[in-house]
Amino acid sequence: MAGVPVELKGRSFTRVASWSRDELATLLDLADELKAERARRAELGGMALFLPAAELQLARGESFRDTALVLSRFLSALMIRTFEQEEIEEFAEHASIPVINGLTDETHPLQALADAMTLRERFGGLGGLRVAYVGDGNNVCHSLMRIAARFGAEFVAATPKGYEPNPGFVAAATEDAAANGGSVTVVHDPREAAHGAHALYTDVWVSMGQDDDRMRRLRDLEPYRIDDTLIGLADPEAVAMHCLPAHVGEEISADVLYGPRCLAWEQAENRLHTQKALMALVIR
Ligand code: NVA
Repeated sequence: MAGVPVELKGRSFTRVASWSRDELATLLDLADELKAERARRAELGGMALFLPAAELQLARGESFRDTALVLSRFLSALMIRTFEQEEIEEFAEHASIPVINGLTDETHPLQALADAMTLRERFGGLGGLRVAYVGDGNNVCHSLMRIAARFGAEFVAATPKGYEPNPGFVAAATEDAAANGGSVTVVHDPREAAHGAHALYTDVWVSMGQDDDRMRRLRDLEPYRIDDTLIGLADPEAVAMHCLPAHVGEEISADVLYGPRCLAWEQAENRLHTQKALMALVIR
């Protein structure tokens, strides 16, 4: 592909912070191009293999290192969805093909790419935007915070006490934001976060693997729903965002999710374009 920085070939994408602002912008530009040309251009033409961990030798004790070395001999790229971030980092360290983080407990960088693309489409860029995340300070919050920081947005998260984003990630994102003209703030009052926001973002209150804790989470997060009242505090042009799957009536009201301000469906479509762009850039 013409104009693609050569150094992206073979690169893994394990977290937003592992790519520079210019590299992320290159990817988002290509995603815009792929979206615009989709009607005229075929999809990438690859073949996907779904390999559940239980069907790999991993289930019988083969190490991540050995699995990474073997799969590198078969595949062009490997996307992993798992709980432990360290597993992805370990695969990336040993694989000779690009390793892509498809979600961990800590991060969800592919979602952040689609979110950044969606915000750029709507507002022309992220610099100067006030992006408010309301709810559980989880994987989606972490990656959104980091990409917002990297592109100079004013990011604010409102969570209940005990549900704040990881303090180490907040510190790193705060530094990143300062270098790019943005900021990162964590508060507990959803109204404070929503005030003047251009985007109000939320995610499920019970993430994968947290079902045992469901009742406590629903109770603690109840005041953090995105509904018309909360949006009423935001900028008049504010949009609502959600990574999906949504639990209507929990973290987001039906009126907002299916209303005219909601970009969730655009975000969902943009997962396609950003992930295609990523594969086109990194696969040798
Ligand atoms: N926080 C959610 C994101 C789902 C895409 C989870 O980890 O289940």
